[in-house]
Amino acid sequence: MTDIVRSLDFGVRGRVDVVADGEALARQAAEQIIAVSQTADTEHRTALVALSGGSTPKRMGELLATPEYGDRVAWGHLAIFWGDERFVPLASSDSNAGEALRAFIDASPICPDDVHTWETEGVTPSESASNYEAELREVSGVDTGVPVFDLILLGMGDDGHTLSLFPGTAAIHNNTDIVLAHHVEKLNADRLTFSPLLANAARKVVFLVGGAGKADTLPRVLQGEEDVDTLPSQVIRPTNGELVWLVDEAAAANLR
Ligand code: 6PG
Repeated sequence: MTDIVRSLDFGVRGRVDVVADGEALARQAAEQIIAVSQTADTEHRTALVALSGGSTPKRMGELLATPEYGDRVAWGHLAIFWGDERFVPLASSDSNAGEALRAFIDASPICPDDVHTWETEGVTPSESASNYEAELREVSGVDTGVPVFDLILLGMGDDGHTLSLFPGTAAIHNNTDIVLAHHVEKLNADRLTFSPLLANAARKVVFLVGGAGKADTLPRVLQGEEDVDTLPSQVIRPTNGELVWLVDEAAAANLR
């Protein structure tokens, strides 16, 4: 049974699938992981999947830790990466990967070699980015050019940012690197992130957007003037892939 109550088509800006609430959003997110792993299993290959931070992936992780969801994941057919990361130790509750490890990955049957966290200790941010690129190239077998993720899960901040692409940052226009480290002035913090180039090469990108805090930003991103410097989420436009927005009713309130 699907939780999707209606769909809206915004052309190149994607399809919006509306669900009732945050719980339904997390369920649908978990189903995305299940589906991509099962397809990879059928095709006898490994799916490249990128997770994100945020509240929905946290709840998704709790679901994937239950037998009802976890037993349907073909764990042996996933290679897990993170689309962005804060430059904090894995043990920190601010670490996107750390939180996912603790919520479900550590307790899952996935082989630790298939879990690829950004390094945030004992290296500089730019060394971390360069090591992550090397790791991704090795896992994907793509030595030059842009690796293709099967699924990238993204969040959208209330300010319209996605990944660690924040308004007004040069990273939004980086079409040279596949991953990068940068200092984000408004946060006074170092961030590690996929570039738009890497995100837009994916077969499928799914935004997870829940809560009333997103209701004003979402129509600007999907229906407003194009201004990627103000609304970095608009820079996500897969070249050959599918773009889906899973949105709860509270976040979808102002979409027409
Ligand atoms: C950040 C944000 C980011 C988060 C979005 C959406 O600091 O980069 O916290 O990690 O994914 O803000 O999060 P929610 O879906 O919880 O609003």
